[in-house]
Amino acid sequence: MTSSDMEYLTIALPKGKLFEPSANLLAELGYTAEGLSENSRKLVIVNEAKKIKFIITKTADLPTYVEYGAADIGIIGKDVLLEEAKHVYELVDLKFGYCRLMVAVPQALKQEKFSDYAHMRVATKYPNIAERFFHSMGIQVEIIKLNGSIELAPMVGLAEMIVDIVETGRTLKENQLIEVAQIEPATARFIANRVSFKMKFDRINQLTKDLQELVTRGGVK
Ligand code: PRP
Repeated sequence: MTSSDMEYLTIALPKGKLFEPSANLLAELGYTAEGLSENSRKLVIVNEAKKIKFIITKTADLPTYVEYGAADIGIIGKDVLLEEAKHVYELVDLKFGYCRLMVAVPQALKQEKFSDYAHMRVATKYPNIAERFFHSMGIQVEIIKLNGSIELAPMVGLAEMIVDIVETGRTLKENQLIEVAQIEPATARFIANRVSFKMKFDRINQLTKDLQELVTRGGVK
């Protein structure tokens, strides 16, 4: 770590649904910067007075930035952490961004027994989670990795099933898909790089405590 790296606390925030609640939660504790916005064209936004740098990443890439120390800390969904399996410390369950990982199929393809889904194709943004889940069930399937709009795949015959997150259930409903198995629930997590956690212990530990306290009080209103 260079002396400049040591001077700043670099915080990674993900684009997408978690950006706003994450930025609001941190702002509540005074961690913010002028111009910090999901749509900012600037990729690094600095608060010189507080020696904080924000970086905004693609959701799936965030754990990589933290694992390699390009960011000291970050906020990301448990679903992404399970998928990416990076070596980072998971410090606080922030209790927002609740969703669940599940398996869904079109109504017409619903089977009597779960084992009847063997040999079907499964479209997903979460190939590792899907692989582990079907393996644990002893069911062989073909996993097809996609990057978004997963619900489209069964509608156009790319796959028979999907593994995805469901939040309100609206997307499933609007695409005539039904949930046939639950995999795991997920919420937003506060994570840290393992070296940063030691080198910047005071700052990260204080923020961890403050976040924990804020969550216990019910988060940002
Ligand atoms: C997620 C997920 C579902 C949808 C579920 O997609 O992949 O498509 O949200 O939410 P709902 O149950 O409230 O309808 P996201 O909006 O992150 O975009 P993506 O499909 O491009 O990844």
